[in-house]
Amino acid sequence: MMKNKIARTFEEYYRIYRESVQDPEGFWSEIANSFEWRKPWDKVLEWDFMKPEVQWFIGGKLNITENCLDRHLKQKGDQTAIIWEPNDPKQPSLHISYKELHVRVCQFANALKNNGIEKGDRVCIYMPMVPELAVAVLACARIGAVHSVVFAGFSSRSLSERINDSTCKMVVTSDGGYRGDKILRLKDIVDEALLECPSVEKCIVLERTGESIEMEDGRDIWWDDAMEGMTDFCEPEIMDSEDLLFILYTSGSTGKPKGMVHTCGGYMVYTTYTFLNTFQYKPNEVYWCTADIGWITGHSYIVYGPLCAGATTMMFEGVPSWPDLGRFWETVDKHKVNIFYTAPTAIRALQKADPALVEKHDLDSLRVLGTVGEPINEEAWHWYHDKIGKGNCPVVDTWWQTETGGFMISPIAGLTPTKPAFATLPMPGVQLAIMDQDGKEEKGNVVEGRLCIKFPWPSMARTIYGDHKRFYDTYFSGFSKKYFTGDGCRRDEEGYYRITGRVDDVIIVAGHNLGTAEIENAIDEHENVCETAVVGFPHDIKGNAIYAFVNTYHKPKDEEALKGEILDLVSRIVGPIAKPEKIMFVSGLPKTRSGKIMRRILRKVAEGNTQDLGDISTLLNPDIVEELIDENIR
Ligand code: WTA
Repeated sequence: MMKNKIARTFEEYYRIYRESVQDPEGFWSEIANSFEWRKPWDKVLEWDFMKPEVQWFIGGKLNITENCLDRHLKQKGDQTAIIWEPNDPKQPSLHISYKELHVRVCQFANALKNNGIEKGDRVCIYMPMVPELAVAVLACARIGAVHSVVFAGFSSRSLSERINDSTCKMVVTSDGGYRGDKILRLKDIVDEALLECPSVEKCIVLERTGESIEMEDGRDIWWDDAMEGMTDFCEPEIMDSEDLLFILYTSGSTGKPKGMVHTCGGYMVYTTYTFLNTFQYKPNEVYWCTADIGWITGHSYIVYGPLCAGATTMMFEGVPSWPDLGRFWETVDKHKVNIFYTAPTAIRALQKADPALVEKHDLDSLRVLGTVGEPINEEAWHWYHDKIGKGNCPVVDTWWQTETGGFMISPIAGLTPTKPAFATLPMPGVQLAIMDQDGKEEKGNVVEGRLCIKFPWPSMARTIYGDHKRFYDTYFSGFSKKYFTGDGCRRDEEGYYRITGRVDDVIIVAGHNLGTAEIENAIDEHENVCETAVVGFPHDIKGNAIYAFVNTYHKPKDEEALKGEILDLVSRIVGPIAKPEKIMFVSGLPKTRSGKIMRRILRKVAEGNTQDLGDISTLLNPDIVEELIDENIR
């Protein structure tokens, strides 16, 4: 039973953790037994990190939507599954019951089938945060189609690249989306992307903003027309535990995004269990995760985990800063939110706002606060804990990744004594290792190094879509028989973990992972740009911001104009979230004798710390450093 595995005291956490390490198969099969399977598994786990190959609940058959929806109908049919809070607080919010959600998902699943989608087909979803986004995701899962949700802030180029990488047969989108006082013309972006996407046969378009858009005959269908006449039951496709559930792209250290593949059985078991255990969710509580479903946080902890757990989960269409910076707090009171889960970048932005925007709200319903996406600084942690939680709500700092599918290191709400900026302790079933430079595991408590995981957990990504070698190279080649996270980490005398940040070429800007190469490639497309290097530097609100060092062919006549052109390029090619905060034009980049760009030096310059550049004697072109320093001061 899953119940016995949900800790109720801190001592129990340790007991459960020990059990999960001593007998992982017994541990996870007991949890998995609380779900509905059409056929039980034959074997719990098979794994080999050398290949790497990982399979959980082998031979088990299920459909995740039966667990998210059907099994709740009897007892919770009328309970709210999704609360939807629209962009404009003056518009009505929606409460969608499990019964209604079930009907809508079934109808849209039938609409997908009716438009030629079958088990295994890939469907790209590019939508604003409206209930239909969750419906589309679940409808794909209902019929065994593989969804690939692309965050609606990505450009047409990024969208087409992702559609083509997994040869999607269909795109589900909307005419537009609201974001604060802005309207995003999503269908225009899709139209441009689809010029380059030969695999896409149909595009279903939800009407959201009522903008006038182009509809291509034979390809584009309105959502309402597709739903017309669809019956309200759809027989779930019976999936193998290891069949694909979804693909979600994440930025990597080379230019091409990685399509992380998640499968049905283990993902369901792990996200549901961690949701219940970490937040200590109690029946009828209102849970609000402010992420977008375009990211893993939304997949695992707005849609699948909470719905499988029979929770009430909220979807928010808008932004934290509109109509004013009190929107989150106003919404917490409006819906009596008990568990609130957001990102450090949002917390830092709200912390700087007028305190009256917090103080005028009660916030008494709050019981647990959560954070995710990047290290939270102590000041933000304290503000969140004191001003939002009024000292009464545990802050669960959840460390995890698109690749891990679910929480890996986190306090258990109310049980684990918290420590600001520490993600604290591993979840049951998670076996961590901190590695030194030479690839040896650092035993003992007080150590710092690279964070690895040495035993499989059910929701880990199984591969990179279409590129298993890259999966191995990226995550399993660095440290033998271990999954390498890409993060640095410290462990203290109590055995608590503190994530120190990325140690690879991924920069987290306002909670979004961006690959340096992706941005560099975009800037390099400018005709006057010869070479670019991009690094991160600390930023008060965004955590990090982007600094681009751009080597031009000809000295720019008008630097401001060229900067504008570069920002446009990045916006168009990657997306507005990737725009550099600062650009410096240089006549060369510092390089080692083997031709590698010395990013270490660029990072120092970007931080404004030019005193302590370390050893530059091995540079091919030491003169360039003087130029960088002069430019920075200028
Ligand atoms: C970072 C988001 C510190 C980390 C779920 C990780 C964090 C990357 C935390 C994954 C946290 C996420 N403390 N750092 N609580 N949570 N990160 O794939 O660098 O968008 O590797 O998944 O975010 O980002 P992703």
